[in-house]
Amino acid sequence: MSTRVDAFVVAVPGLEPLLLDEVQKLGVRPARAVRGGVECNLTWPQLWAINLRSRIATRVVVRVARFHADGFHSLQVGLRAVDWSAWLPDGGVTVAVSTDKESKLYHSGAVEERVNEVLGRPLGGQVVQVRVLRDAVTVSLDASGAPLHHRGWRGPAGKAPMRESLAAALVLASGWDVRTPLVDPFCGSGTIAIEAAMIARRMAPGRNRSFAFEQWPSFESDGWERLLRGADGDVVQKCPPIIAADRDAGAVASVSENAARAGVGDNITAMQRTVSDLVLPTRAGWIVSNPPYGHRVGGPGGATDLRNLYDRFGAVLRERAAGWHVALLAARDTPVARMKLPLRPIISTLNGGLDVDVHAGLIGGLGGVATPARATPTDPA
Ligand SMILES: C[S@@+](CC[C@H](N)C(=O)[O-])C[C@H]1O[C@@H](n2cnc3c(N)ncnc32)[C@H](O)[C@@H]1O
Repeated sequence: MSTRVDAFVVAVPGLEPLLLDEVQKLGVRPARAVRGGVECNLTWPQLWAINLRSRIATRVVVRVARFHADGFHSLQVGLRAVDWSAWLPDGGVTVAVSTDKESKLYHSGAVEERVNEVLGRPLGGQVVQVRVLRDAVTVSLDASGAPLHHRGWRGPAGKAPMRESLAAALVLASGWDVRTPLVDPFCGSGTIAIEAAMIARRMAPGRNRSFAFEQWPSFESDGWERLLRGADGDVVQKCPPIIAADRDAGAVASVSENAARAGVGDNITAMQRTVSDLVLPTRAGWIVSNPPYGHRVGGPGGATDLRNLYDRFGAVLRERAAGWHVALLAARDTPVARMKLPLRPIISTLNGGLDVDVHAGLIGGLGGVATPARATPTDPA
């Protein structure tokens, strides 16, 4: 079996540049951002390391075969040429097929049936992806298992929790210097604060979960254990103040529980507070948040309430946050402009199927000049 594999690291569209930066920081060369992720060629330890350490990726898939097929016969020939015993773990598989109308093999159900015939496995957890695009077949194995934003720390979901990978992307895109305070005034279940603490403390996001590749024949537990020890050795205790506030008592309780499970309970101060009562540390830092937006916290009077909330939030920041950086994630039609702050969109992506933007900027001092936040991530990990 080869010592290197072609892989595709999947990300939510819009997060590819941040993901490319992460993958390159793990020493992976060459790597190329394309729509929906990063293509790269990996050693096995690099494949494990991306799963363990990427904060942005959704999953990693490994390309097992690529061939031309214009009918069931050539599909079966191509599939039989793969040494499946070198790739697949014992146990069952789930075949996931996508096809396009320009391929002779456009019927995904029929393709799935043929793939299952060749593999001859019962239904099980290892996902085998088969993509047919203009008669070109790509067969990939999912190396991650549960999506990588499942870090293993989340308890019962709060009102509208954001994906951990998106929260990490927001923190990284904000340009947080990892030295000055970070405040989330609409923290919900605390996703942003927890991801920020894990970034500051260089904690590997995948430390408390398992991965599909651990069952693969190529897996070497010695190498993996070394990687885990290395990741544990990188963790630092130092963390700047991180404050998570929400008006909802249940949300605040869930922050403390989630933070404790994530191992950053001591690094986050959770407080019940409406945004009008927001008190910021004297040392300026970063306000990074996912404030309410209509689709998620709607209801009667939703739009008016939302306009009032953004008017209020803007006024609070103009009054109390001179010198602070701001990065907010909000749905496309959210009245962010009502905040009257020098924010500009730096990332467009998706959250729960909705188009969302990250708005970022620096709040000038009294009469000071505002400049946009840096869009370059500064993850020390
Ligand atoms: C979109 S959710 C944040 C979700 C969070 N990012 C997470 O991952 O769980 C918005 C939060 O704002 C809180 N909220 C709404 N109005 C508020 C106000 N005036 N002051 C403080 N928090 C408020 C809600 O209770 C809710 O938890």
